[in-house]
Amino acid sequence: MKVDESLEQHFPTPVLIRRHEDIGALTVALQALLEEAVQSEPNAAESSDNTTRGGFQTAGQEDFLDRNHEALRVLKGQVIWPAVESYLSQVLKCDPLMTPVSIASWAVSLNAGDWQAPHFHPKEYTVISGVYYVWVPEAPEPEGCLEFINPNLNAVSIGNQPSGHLHQPCTGQIILFPPYYMHFVHPLKTADQRHVIAFDVRLNHR
Ligand SMILES: [Fe+2]
Repeated sequence: MKVDESLEQHFPTPVLIRRHEDIGALTVALQALLEEAVQSEPNAAESSDNTTRGGFQTAGQEDFLDRNHEALRVLKGQVIWPAVESYLSQVLKCDPLMTPVSIASWAVSLNAGDWQAPHFHPKEYTVISGVYYVWVPEAPEPEGCLEFINPNLNAVSIGNQPSGHLHQPCTGQIILFPPYYMHFVHPLKTADQRHVIAFDVRLNHR
């Protein structure tokens, strides 16, 4: 009996990762900016509904990248927007020049033992979520890693897919993913602070 068989994988979750080199000066400037924020600003991580456990987070109502600072202008113009345009073009199949979107962003700094509880980014009109890694201390997995949870838990329950995907970040890396993709951050043991700028890309609306 002739059999024609194929094994198809349906519905992948598109994640874009870019790594930047020669960013030493940018890293130093952003680290200084974030360390100053940790020392002098109100901590949104202390709010009971925040998923950052311990650590520091800038206020959610503010767009952190919009602050008047040269390093943030460089980061936004040369790192974040090019990555967003690539994702819009490759994944969402739309022309970045014809797609009215804006960015909402916040900074997160974690010390030894701090972590982030599982969450996704459900704010309305969000089409992409992402993280830029300003500074990530070297540590063995899973310390400081970003772990994604399989959005298809039905597949996990019947035993043919892993429940999570561990992502090892590094300084100068940017990662973009769908806003519905659940994720959390493992705690570090080192005393060296881990600094990131997280963001959502939202469709403009009236
Ligand atoms: Fe997140």
